[in-house]
Amino acid sequence: MRAHVVGWGKYVPDRVLTNDDLARMVDTSDEWIVTRTGIRQRRIAEEGETTATMAVQAARQALEGAGVSPGQVDVIIVATATPDYLFPSTACLVQDALGATRAAAFDLAAGCTGFVYALAVAVAMVEAGAVRTALVIGSETLSRITDWTDRNTCVLFGDGAGAVVLQGGPDDGGVLSAVLSADGSGADLLMLPAGGSRLPASHHTVSERLHFIKMQGRDVFRFAVRVIPTATREVLRRAGLSPDDITLLIPHQANGRIIESAMKDLKLPPEKVYNNLERYGNTSAASIPVALCEAVEEGRLGPGDIVICVGFGAGLTWGAVAIRWTRPRPVAAPTWRQFLRRLIYLWAALRSWLRRLWWWIRT
Ligand code: COA
Repeated sequence: MRAHVVGWGKYVPDRVLTNDDLARMVDTSDEWIVTRTGIRQRRIAEEGETTATMAVQAARQALEGAGVSPGQVDVIIVATATPDYLFPSTACLVQDALGATRAAAFDLAAGCTGFVYALAVAVAMVEAGAVRTALVIGSETLSRITDWTDRNTCVLFGDGAGAVVLQGGPDDGGVLSAVLSADGSGADLLMLPAGGSRLPASHHTVSERLHFIKMQGRDVFRFAVRVIPTATREVLRRAGLSPDDITLLIPHQANGRIIESAMKDLKLPPEKVYNNLERYGNTSAASIPVALCEAVEEGRLGPGDIVICVGFGAGLTWGAVAIRWTRPRPVAAPTWRQFLRRLIYLWAALRSWLRRLWWWIRT
């Protein structure tokens, strides 16, 4: 049994925050941000938009594209560092909103490597025969844990969500290999110090701004530059491939200079490396699925192509997956089938809403 990516979707909030906007908030400039990071703008969630609501939007698109109804989903994994609540899991909120009543649901925390971790876990579940259809989502509302007075970090992050539908099947291809790694000794290089059981919310944690991202930028940079090529080579080796076989490398979108360094190390030309950093900034666990979704939409992946997704982040964690793409290139015009699917989704959403209303009336 092989796990194939059969659907993909993304959601980014409408609100755009440019580098010039940031220069009015902290002591920075468009020139500094572009040359040091490659980022020009990022999306920021509106009030009322959360990690769960964005995940639902991306998931609906992915399910619709796959022609899979919410009722067919066996498991939902949401990779996130910014869950709606510490508990219940964001995945359970997504499960309810989609009406995916048969699905098990859980969150996965591996920082910006979250999506790669979640994908690897879902693939293992599919290959073991434990599930047939998995919905894997990376969703983040980093704007809510960003210190908008700290120029070292606030220029880097953005909000968004991406999702893929994985399905087991007998055909060759699909996810070929995965590699997951961690080094907890680097935990303090990138963290959200307060709000957990070690440092619960208090006047002190709030006044010391401990509910915001703290990062040792240079150390994280050095770590990222080292692990992207290592993880990429290892995942290729496990799949019996070499860097020459790569059609498209999708690295975690954190910093243009990190991506350039990986490109050089792996001797990949720019057209083989996906980069949408300038439009979204670092969206953590959402960055790879959003990039994958855009790469497919742009027609950059076709049947037989090899795509490598490689991530790194808080933990420290890093990892990669190698996929032999088995889906046809997307067609632009919507078909009557897609129209029917949309109707089914509307009905599922309405049903979930009516259930909630009924529950509210009764209690
Ligand atoms: N605007 C203007 N100046 C800034 C600035 C900003 N937004 N942020 C920092 N600076 C200043 C610093 O204060 C420092 O000034 P100083 O020399 O007077 O002390 C100077 O710029 C250089 O700072 P430094 O931290 O050495 O810059 P850098 O070249 O390492 O770039 C990062 C900083 C954060 C862009 C870079 O380290 C990075 O991208 N690290 C990885 C972060 C990451 O990817 N995190 C997520 C991982 S999932």
